[in-house]
Amino acid sequence: MDFPAEPFRIKVVEPLKKTNRAEREALILRAGLNVFNLPADGIYVDLLTDSGTSAMSDNQWAGLMLGDESYAGSRNYQNFENSIKELFGFKHIIPTHQGRSAEHLLFSILLDQKKIVPNNIHFDTTRANVLHQGAKPVDLVIDEGLDPNHSHLFKGNMDLEKLEDLITSAGPDRIPVVMMTVTNNSGGGQPVSMENIRQVSEITRRHNIRFFLDACRFAENCYFIKEREEGYGSKSIREIAKELFSYADGCTMSAKKDGLVNIGGFLAMNDASLAGDVSNLLILVEGFPTYGGLAGRDLEAIARGLEEVVDEDYLAFRIGQVRYLADLLKKAGVPLLQPTGGHAVYLNAREFLPHIPQSQFPAQALTVALYRHAGIRAVEVGSLMFGEKDKDTGEERYPELEMVRLAIPRRVYTSMHMKYVAESIVHLYQERKSIKGLRLIYEAPILRHFTAKLEDID
Ligand code: F0G
Repeated sequence: MDFPAEPFRIKVVEPLKKTNRAEREALILRAGLNVFNLPADGIYVDLLTDSGTSAMSDNQWAGLMLGDESYAGSRNYQNFENSIKELFGFKHIIPTHQGRSAEHLLFSILLDQKKIVPNNIHFDTTRANVLHQGAKPVDLVIDEGLDPNHSHLFKGNMDLEKLEDLITSAGPDRIPVVMMTVTNNSGGGQPVSMENIRQVSEITRRHNIRFFLDACRFAENCYFIKEREEGYGSKSIREIAKELFSYADGCTMSAKKDGLVNIGGFLAMNDASLAGDVSNLLILVEGFPTYGGLAGRDLEAIARGLEEVVDEDYLAFRIGQVRYLADLLKKAGVPLLQPTGGHAVYLNAREFLPHIPQSQFPAQALTVALYRHAGIRAVEVGSLMFGEKDKDTGEERYPELEMVRLAIPRRVYTSMHMKYVAESIVHLYQERKSIKGLRLIYEAPILRHFTAKLEDID
């Protein structure tokens, strides 16, 4: 079979509106050529993010009806706690309303201005939460992880030498936690090998430093380990996950990804004293420790989602669907980040649109063109998101990569939708010379990509 057949059938449908070119043109102009400003019902296939956009199963929806909304001691918290303890193996489980809140709580307790946090690559919110405490985030991914054309199978791995050097030069006291993001979202959804996790764990234990995973996409990472790493081919995803977490002291989690839910997250850890400090802060900002900013029914949906996400048929379809889209594009010569990651396909906009200089936002130009052409919403990961003005000279500095991320929501779109996306992009690629650059006409002082307004350059 040359396409991934869905391991589910459809019980409830959500109609999608198809728009025509003139309607999309009006919508995108009104949105200031920024897809974040589009009304979602003007979009046919929405690939803005895989976060909080999953379709829940009938079993999860049934679980919502069993929500126990008691302020304290809800039975759904018990299910949530049991499900996480069983799969992740950590002793203390603290619910939060989403991933960044788990990061904020952990870093509020652990960090101050003198501290440093290493990670393979910090996701934006993780970086922002480290900076918010006055501490310094440092990215230590292997060099191959920064080369869009390198096909290393575990491009999310941390460079162990760089980690040892940092610990030696800064001193272990300044590093209260080493983080590792699985899969490495900012590096293209690339996996980390079990061997690398084991080695990082060995280094952190030797220096008496905590080791936490940013576990948003842990199941996808485990599937890659099963597929690619020697010795794991005949193990179950659950066994692989248990081993993976056994090397860490805790994790932050956005259940909006591999929890298969629309909202929720948690912090898990073995250290009772740290868990006590976090829980006290949790009561102040999120809620009582048996709900942490969520409803009882949300906890139930997460408990059930975590059971479903480690199912191998599901994961084979999930990873297979992302790969299917990438393969259709590759066959037509569309330049992509290599190899295909777990949750998204990344178009290499610099190679797609070599005639547009970075000062004219090629990845954003491609994102806008894709919406205009086919009603598909992707997200720019390039100079609009990461470009910044030099504080001294005022000159614009550009990031190395200009990417357009096509993030695939879980269990939402069919393989036929993927075919539609691929054919639309291939068509656009054939007409790429007609795509023009963009000019920025409004930018906010921070995180400008969310609210920026742009115009076409004629
Ligand atoms: N860590 C990683 C690796 C993430 O990808 C995200 C979110 C978070 C933490 C924060 O979790 O959104 O629940 O607060 N990533 C989304 C994305 C937003 O589109 O990649 P959150």
